[in-house]
Amino acid sequence: MKRPFILLLSVLSCVVQAQNRQETNLRTWQFSRDSVHWQPVTVPHDWAISGPFDKKWDLQCVAITQNGEQKATEKSGRSGALPWIGKGFYQTELTFETLPSHAWLAFDGAMAEPKVYVNGHFAGEWKYGYTPFRIDATRWLKKGRNLITVTLNNVEESSRWYPGAGLYRPVKLVTTGETHFDSWATFVRTERIEAGKAILKVDFQTVGPMKGRLVRGRIIDDRGNLVASFSRPAAPSGLNELTVTVKKPHCWSPETPRLYTLDLAICRECGSKGPTLVDDRQQQRFGIRTVSVSKAGFQLNGVARKIKGVCLHHDLGPLGAAVNKAALIRQIRLLKDMGCDAIRTSHNIPSTLQMEVCDSMGMMVMAESFDMWRYPKCKNGYARFFQAWSERDIENLVRCHRNHPSIIMWSIGNEIPEQGSAEGREMARNLQAICHRLDPTRPVTQGMDRAEAALKSGFAQEMDVPGFNYRVYKYDTNITQLPAGFLLGAETASTVSSRGVYKFPARITDKATYSDGQCSSYDTEYCGWSNLPEADFLMQEDRPWTIGQFVWTGFDYLGEPTPYDEFWPSRSSYFGIFDLAGIPKDRYYLYRSEWNKQAHTLHLLPHWTWNGREGMETPVFVYTDYPCAELFLNGKSLGRKCKQAYTVAPGTPNEEKRRLETKELLQRYRLMWDDVKYEPGELKVIAYDASGKAVATQQIMTAGLPDHLVLEADRNSIHADGDDLCFVTVSLVDAKGTLIPTADNALSFDVSGAATFKAACNGDATSLEPFTEPRMKLFNGKLVVIVQSNRQRGDITLTVTDKSLGKHATLKLKAD
Ligand code: GAL
Repeated sequence: MKRPFILLLSVLSCVVQAQNRQETNLRTWQFSRDSVHWQPVTVPHDWAISGPFDKKWDLQCVAITQNGEQKATEKSGRSGALPWIGKGFYQTELTFETLPSHAWLAFDGAMAEPKVYVNGHFAGEWKYGYTPFRIDATRWLKKGRNLITVTLNNVEESSRWYPGAGLYRPVKLVTTGETHFDSWATFVRTERIEAGKAILKVDFQTVGPMKGRLVRGRIIDDRGNLVASFSRPAAPSGLNELTVTVKKPHCWSPETPRLYTLDLAICRECGSKGPTLVDDRQQQRFGIRTVSVSKAGFQLNGVARKIKGVCLHHDLGPLGAAVNKAALIRQIRLLKDMGCDAIRTSHNIPSTLQMEVCDSMGMMVMAESFDMWRYPKCKNGYARFFQAWSERDIENLVRCHRNHPSIIMWSIGNEIPEQGSAEGREMARNLQAICHRLDPTRPVTQGMDRAEAALKSGFAQEMDVPGFNYRVYKYDTNITQLPAGFLLGAETASTVSSRGVYKFPARITDKATYSDGQCSSYDTEYCGWSNLPEADFLMQEDRPWTIGQFVWTGFDYLGEPTPYDEFWPSRSSYFGIFDLAGIPKDRYYLYRSEWNKQAHTLHLLPHWTWNGREGMETPVFVYTDYPCAELFLNGKSLGRKCKQAYTVAPGTPNEEKRRLETKELLQRYRLMWDDVKYEPGELKVIAYDASGKAVATQQIMTAGLPDHLVLEADRNSIHADGDDLCFVTVSLVDAKGTLIPTADNALSFDVSGAATFKAACNGDATSLEPFTEPRMKLFNGKLVVIVQSNRQRGDITLTVTDKSLGKHATLKLKAD
């Protein structure tokens, strides 16, 4: 491999001082696909997200057996139709004035099969692209300049979705002195909370000479108050465990995401005003809270609550897999507004950044590990590594992430093919035992899709939390075989829809496909194995032993374009409650009406601009938390509707329950006027509360001619750190501000001042326009432009131009 020494001279090298602990984020790298041509990049980096989209990249001729397919067919967009397969090379330079006693390269994940070289010496490797791992680089480093090289290799047919490619998560250099803490050994956990006190257990491990040293610990709350402290002579080496009491603790929960910091120091001179001669200092954020599961349900801090969760793949839509804090914060903010309180990191180990965002914003997490074990679900999937690496992967998942209060359970797998065998049961037991050994505080789960097989083999009974994927109609039978006395909807719904697309007639069906490659936003279409949201609402509400659910999925993701796995062009999912751009689909309001207990929801669908449908039946649905509503078309009442009582008795045979997807079920949760004859004008709904009082209203209008663009930023000011993002939703509207709901005008984007154009996305799963070019068509009147700060403070101007309309719109933002 040729090394680009000359190129590297021009790169700002990272100068590291070698005293005590230092963590340096390695952002600046050279990147190459062939180790000949190099370009500077900033890490996190996803080499494939710019495309171009092409079905040739990972054309899979396969039968997706878990979807019930028997015959292999061509699957063109299964892993996103982006060029993520093949090799990638990264290099960076580190300069040491003095050599540290210890130096590690800490990767939060690298896609995939990373091999790490220090000054040309092989220093270590990993296999699974999602695992955080550390490479001890100490022995290969020298004074002066050092070259770090990472090679990556992505193999075809190794993923069921878009995995991303490259150093897509941060890489850090961690240096310490000879005497130091082993950072992943530090573990703070809540033993119990009683009588206004939290009893914490604190583990830490010291390494190196400890003679004459003390370990000092301080616990500081999120307002900076010292709430507990300890001091003890450090044991020569090995694990220390001690008990610490915090009085009047502020417990962490999604509603009160209060955090604490454990400030640990190994010191030789430990004065009363704080240590002065310090060998190492580690600051670990944590939360005080307890988690338990029992027949009384899932309990956080002793209070039972049903989990209102969504599954999320790791990609961030148009940003690809490159992790970004602002994008994660936006996701969590949108989900919380829906009333969602948990995410499942399906089906892989999450990023540290995402867990930090969940900690601080208040989002519970099921942290997952694997989509397969020994038996492959795709030809070159993780099964290649399971035997040799799975224990190490689970170990790193738990050790790296166990201090995050947001994580409420570990998941050891998803729809594991071995679930029906005694061997599978043993494997489950072993993986669960590893989690318990490293973390005695959290229960362990996994998502099972073949309930009968998993219950017969004892696989399901093995789990702390028996989690089932779909097939809600089997829950009543499953529960009778589960000594645990509760079960989790580990994966639910898989309802499909495209934002702003409505198909007529609005049919409840698991078999719909259309020539345009879209799904209907009437929210009546699902998959053969799945269901509509209401079936899950019913089972969660009517069965006390269900502990919650994780909807598939919160946001659309790249790859897996079911029900269009064989349709080209189609390269991203339809399952999302939000589209790939993060714009809510109608379904968002349905979940919000059920889940958000703080704010009311009143939402009308479809849009009301149906040129050519005059006099034709155009159903109108209302998603609301209010019990009743009345619909008016051009001032004329179309009648008042109320939600209808509907139950499914537990004794009902499965064959009958399987047909849960009926109008009767839907009427319990949505208000539907099926036979509205379309006429242009104003559609209005008035909602009534339980006492019959009119309490809220909402209207939509038929749009006139396209008139102007509206730009709405999620924030007006961003940090000038080169990472922060602003998400701007662009809509085309008529003169009165009504959305042109089918507009597909081509727009172009220009960003000037203290930011640059980063990406755009319109949420159309069939679009082949690259995300990273400053132009894109609207999809059903909308798209999102992402602007990134460039490390300068100052004003930012985004200009969006619609040439065909001869108009542009500008938005002023700030970076500070
Ligand atoms: C599940 C699977 C998910 C996704 C989903 C689509 O069976 O666990 O990864 O494929 O189906 O409905």
